[in-house]
Amino acid sequence: MRHLRAASDVASARFSLEERFAAVQAEARRSFSRSDSNSGTIFCLVRMMNEEIPNLTAFDEAALDEAFALVERQARGDAAALDGDAAVEAFRLKWLGTKQGRLKEVSARWLKVAPPEAKKALGMRFNALKPVVEGLLDAALGAGPNDAALAAEAIDITLPGTRRLTGAEHPITRTLNEITSVFAALGYSVGVGPEVETDFYNFECMNFPPGHPARDTQDTLVVAGQERRPQRDRLLLRTHTSPVQMRTMESQPPPVRIVIPGKVHRNDAADATHSPIFHQVEGLCVDTNITFSDLKGTLDHAMKALFGSAVKTRFFPSFFPFTEPSADVQISCIFCGGKGCRKCKNSGWIELLGCGMVDPAVFAFAAEKQPGYDPKKISGFAFGMGVERIAMMKYGVSEIGQFYAGDMRFLGQFA
Ligand code: PHE
Repeated sequence: MRHLRAASDVASARFSLEERFAAVQAEARRSFSRSDSNSGTIFCLVRMMNEEIPNLTAFDEAALDEAFALVERQARGDAAALDGDAAVEAFRLKWLGTKQGRLKEVSARWLKVAPPEAKKALGMRFNALKPVVEGLLDAALGAGPNDAALAAEAIDITLPGTRRLTGAEHPITRTLNEITSVFAALGYSVGVGPEVETDFYNFECMNFPPGHPARDTQDTLVVAGQERRPQRDRLLLRTHTSPVQMRTMESQPPPVRIVIPGKVHRNDAADATHSPIFHQVEGLCVDTNITFSDLKGTLDHAMKALFGSAVKTRFFPSFFPFTEPSADVQISCIFCGGKGCRKCKNSGWIELLGCGMVDPAVFAFAAEKQPGYDPKKISGFAFGMGVERIAMMKYGVSEIGQFYAGDMRFLGQFA
């Protein structure tokens, strides 16, 4: 069109109508013959790519070079356009397929029918072409993802990695688990009970009768608005884990060997070693012929397991309403080995827990539901220890508040 318009522009300026017609005709002819020869070339190429190999008409070196070069160019063109496994397999079939592959066709059309004097030259070129095509297939098979895909998932390996903070048990949880596992190894099971407890379980059945002065040693928060309930049913935050002794005995006949870890509450002013909320591990062992020496042996073993085999224990007379006799257990100072230091106030001993033989009055409460707890037939011991106190000693912590402050600089040391 461009040529036609150019011709007509020129014509309109300078030529007559006839001359203009002749010029247009000539231009159209030129233009047509150009496009005809173009489409002819394209047609020939399409045939080459999609269909069979053309027959060879000349067998001189230059003609062979050109023919083989053309086939190789096509193979390279095909290989360059491959994307995905299916395309690679299609390439393999198209070029190396044993029945209809293009190399097979080259061999059939060119080698087999060539005049004898051209066979050697043809064969050499064919033998050179085959590994080229096979190499293209190998490269495509092993090529993996293309550059764009690789770039998209590239990572900068020089950047520092994302650091994952390792979680860790809280030192109180860890100590609590350590204590229970010492007793679990002795055959004790592990139990739990409610933190909001009735007056009956926390006090009355533990032999603190209503109005008894022993209750003053364990003042606590009580739930409001329960004045119309009988005193024994009124709710409070438990002051110790001992009520779970009773809950356990009521639910199963003797023998019993159980440890009970849990949270307890007291109306105590917070200071460096006291907190109104803290943790205890309770222990209860009931069977026939349980004696004070069983209690001593068990706790001596437990202290050695927790603090090291060099630790000694000693038992001092004490008082708890629910044990008789009762004792406070001291261990030889783990800081000075018993010589006397600031930590043990120069005594060489540190008081750690309370214990005693289960009072018959407690068994009498249990026997109301489980007659097997007949104090004439069975006996038992109980003990209770503060988890914070043990953790403070084990880890050298001097402020109990550190356990509850949630300061990662403190807690991170236990990770
Ligand atoms: N319950 C007692 C306390 O909290 C500890 C204790 C438990 C003492 C068992 C003796 C036997 O102080």
